[in-house]
Amino acid sequence: MSDPRETLAALQDHVIDRRRFLAFTGALAGTALYAQVRGDAVRAAPLKGYPFRLGIASGDPDPTAVSLWTRLAPEPLTVGGGMPRRDVAVRWELARDERFRKVERRGVVAAVPELAHSVHVDVRGLDPGREYFYRFATGPDRSPVGRTRTAPRPGARVKELTFAFASCQAWPDGFYTAYRRMNEQDLDLVIHLGDYIYEYATGGFAAAGDVIRPHEPANETVTLTDYRIRHGQYKTDPDLQALHSTVPWVLTWDDHEIANDAWSGGAENHDPATEGDYATRKAAAHKAYYEWMPVRAGASGEIYRRVRFGRLAELSMLDLRSYRSQQTSGTGVDDPARTITGDDQMAWLKDGLTSSTARWKLVGNSVMISRLDVATLPAWLLGPLAKLLGIPSNGFAVNNDQWDGYNADRDELVAHLRAHNTRDVVFLTGDIHTSWANELVTRTTVTDPAAAEFVVPSVTSDNVNDFIGVPAGIVGPVGAGLVRSLNPHVKWAELDNHGYGVLDLTPTRARMDWYHLRDRTSPTTSARWAAGWSVAAGSARLRKESGPLAV
Ligand SMILES: [Fe+2]
Repeated sequence: MSDPRETLAALQDHVIDRRRFLAFTGALAGTALYAQVRGDAVRAAPLKGYPFRLGIASGDPDPTAVSLWTRLAPEPLTVGGGMPRRDVAVRWELARDERFRKVERRGVVAAVPELAHSVHVDVRGLDPGREYFYRFATGPDRSPVGRTRTAPRPGARVKELTFAFASCQAWPDGFYTAYRRMNEQDLDLVIHLGDYIYEYATGGFAAAGDVIRPHEPANETVTLTDYRIRHGQYKTDPDLQALHSTVPWVLTWDDHEIANDAWSGGAENHDPATEGDYATRKAAAHKAYYEWMPVRAGASGEIYRRVRFGRLAELSMLDLRSYRSQQTSGTGVDDPARTITGDDQMAWLKDGLTSSTARWKLVGNSVMISRLDVATLPAWLLGPLAKLLGIPSNGFAVNNDQWDGYNADRDELVAHLRAHNTRDVVFLTGDIHTSWANELVTRTTVTDPAAAEFVVPSVTSDNVNDFIGVPAGIVGPVGAGLVRSLNPHVKWAELDNHGYGVLDLTPTRARMDWYHLRDRTSPTTSARWAAGWSVAAGSARLRKESGPLAV
């Protein structure tokens, strides 16, 4: 291999062909932005500032491939990111060692203005279960060095895996110290369950009344430019950047990547009269999401997908926003014609879970699948809980935005697991900003859980005590007790704190540990172990752990 510095110098005047592929963005937005090879050429020229201010990332590892990401943006919070409206050549390298003496792959790609100068490189032909280092460069500028890892080969007898889980990181509500604390652990993967950004204007979702750091742009995000700047702002957080650069991530979106309570044809927080056509907004939001994330989409642009880790685990990441029926109330929640997954994704999920040869069948599930009956909660708790869940506080007490609003799909999935005697299924969930350990039952299987569900709290987004406006530890414990008394399949719930979860898998048990931040408004706060729950192979019954997992 040649000296990278020579290659970089040569790139200054190097003319490259532009290679674009019809992929995720084209399928979602209806525009072929990655087109076929075009004959025109591009010339890399000095930019007006350091272009890697949004960091680098890797994601969607499989045994022989990993997706690398960066975006050129000397001025991330401006329209166009401070980039010229032309293609810019970006060189990338992937090596076995941190000093890049054993470079395995290298190449040049064009960062194009149509994709906001984002760069996705799907590096293939790698060795299974191996650590790699990667970096990007353009002109004289080099990115930081990132670390990633391919998945083990499918038949590998993996002894242990450690996955961190996060969701709901409203920028105005605090700092991403959760990611700094996660980065202190030895992780195989980070899984983000959605609400990576929020669409609200500054102050639009600050129930506690405090805006720790204001949103950019200050208005609600509606246009492609809005979503790009919002994503850019979130990616400026140093702790978020650091964890993206050291561990591969697998991400899915929830509603706030577009708008609150999104469904396939609209959203609660979308008004066509003032905000225009929903399909246009959705396409813009999806496009910006793709531009900013190390996500490898399917042939039709779908982001529900599977990641396999030897014989120990297989993760099915769901998309519960793109195909779902509109939220409804009353007996409509039982209507078998309504769906949260869509028919194709349900078939894919059912087939994948029952045919998997992995020990642990993990489901990345953006909204809670366990039943949650809050009908007889007292008003002081139902009010803030309803606000958190987005349900009316004066009557109908089902969160119709989670699987409770789509009973037929839940029943169908659970019945399928039972019919095939499929065990060792664990749902990993976000969305409701609070911490839960549930046994998955349906109305007809109350005493015999079909799966376990672990719900991780928000990284920052407001939850119950924030809505009420009192410190943690006052109303949460009482509220959790009431929730549990109405929902015996909820083995543990914690309603006040923010943080993340770490799932540790061995062939004999799956164990989730919850870590809560002492102060989400501090960029240096510590995290403390809050609880641990596990499920043994062959059982869906939860066991409480008495202390943190010894590492
Ligand atoms: Fe959220």
